[in-house]
Amino acid sequence: PEKLERITCDIAVVGAGIAGMTAALSLDPGLEVALLSKASFTASSTYKAQGGIAVAVGADDSAADHIADTLRVGQGMCREEAVHVLVREGPAALEYLQSLGAAFTRAPGGLDLTREAGHSRRRVVHYHDHTGRHIAETLAAAAARRGNIELLDDSFLVDIITDRDGCRGCVVEQGGRLLYLDAAAVVVATGGYSGLFLRSTNEASAGGDGIAAAYRAGAALADMEFVQFHPTAATLPSGKVFLLTEALRGEGAVLLNRQGERFMAACHPDGELAPRDEVARAILRESARQGGGPVYLDATRLGRRHLTERFRHVYGELAKSGWFLDRDAIPVLPAAHYTIGGIKTDLWGRSTVPSLYACGEAAATGVHGANRLASNSLLEGVVFARRTAAHINGSRRAPRPAGRFPADAQVAAGVRPDLPDLRARLEAVAGVVRRGEELAAALAWLRAGGAGVPVGAADRHACHAVNACQLAELLLAAALLRAESRGAHYREDYPARNDGEFSNHTLQQWGRKAV
Ligand code: SIN
Repeated sequence: PEKLERITCDIAVVGAGIAGMTAALSLDPGLEVALLSKASFTASSTYKAQGGIAVAVGADDSAADHIADTLRVGQGMCREEAVHVLVREGPAALEYLQSLGAAFTRAPGGLDLTREAGHSRRRVVHYHDHTGRHIAETLAAAAARRGNIELLDDSFLVDIITDRDGCRGCVVEQGGRLLYLDAAAVVVATGGYSGLFLRSTNEASAGGDGIAAAYRAGAALADMEFVQFHPTAATLPSGKVFLLTEALRGEGAVLLNRQGERFMAACHPDGELAPRDEVARAILRESARQGGGPVYLDATRLGRRHLTERFRHVYGELAKSGWFLDRDAIPVLPAAHYTIGGIKTDLWGRSTVPSLYACGEAAATGVHGANRLASNSLLEGVVFARRTAAHINGSRRAPRPAGRFPADAQVAAGVRPDLPDLRARLEAVAGVVRRGEELAAALAWLRAGGAGVPVGAADRHACHAVNACQLAELLLAAALLRAESRGAHYREDYPARNDGEFSNHTLQQWGRKAV
């Protein structure tokens, strides 16, 4: 049995992406905050985000238009009051980032606004094509200046501890030691689970560890079947999957098949800027029609100067592989990119477990509905992290007796950390196009222990593997339950949207039947 070292803090914030860092920074400076990161903030999905942050600040734009676009793309499943909060608090969220030093790309007369799919306006504020890195560096620098925030890198969330009154802190593994963080509240901002798929624009470590821990702690999860696939991801010669930002298509890049013909105009009136799910399915259809293999993203018409300035990050990364955006059409296929499902929260980041909060991609606020509007996620991270912190700041915390971690932890050895079978299986059956029979077979395989992962382990890799199996099971079960097609969830056996039976959010909670 492991001995647990106990550390006391006021609030534990788990995850150092845009949501976690914003939450930590927005908490009352009188609170002692532990900000935990599995690796470092540079490994977060925020850091990799290219596109930008959608805010209705253009002269021709309005909150009403941004709300309408978000609801339309969300296909009848957005939580409308959450969308209103998201959009109406957007300009203040942007000002907040600017007040910390974020300096977004400018054009004559103001901020440079780019266009992405689903937006009826140019609305996406960005920092060249590495907006996420710029925001993450700005927030990390601000957090490092704050005396009340202790940054704990290399800290893996093992479990969330609850008692009769709700959340009592969490257990983390740090450098082989298990620590019990005794905290009055825990904020889960650990990101999503796209890393469970073989082809993902996220790191494989983006396995939804915080969502799995919250589920075990009794929190309700919502919409786990909704995984958004980004249409244009290149596989570099190194094998790494690399995102080609939608802003490229927003600025005029086009999709070509192997014969060099454009095909999107025949698939959707918005052509290359159709919603992501439509573009992703059209790419797979075109790939099948041409006998397999990738289609091509051709940005050559944008010209070298624009590409090397506005898209300097993508240009540079591709150039390392000998591909030049101003000269070559780049082979692309869809890849798992963003998970809409997660810990069900209210408008203040509260989960269904008292004192357990969630924000960012780990949370399911309902703003994305069945399909996320591009660049609404960085916005969601800031807006709802600020609300989460505001709720915690406003809560009266009675002094509580020291918590007690109830269980002994065992360290397991010899577990395969990268779960290749599970990732391949999910990719095959729960990708852009799904079929009931295959989902059911994969679920049965997983429940029969097909992924070969032991339970009850507390070593970091073993925990990650256990979490991956748990989330895969939830995802498959939710995808099977939703016998319709809507937004990011497409069932070939049920290709139509069915508002009569399926306009509700899927809910899954430990020990209860999924609904
Ligand atoms: C992109 O740059 O295409 C990604 C933007 C997003 O996922 O919101």
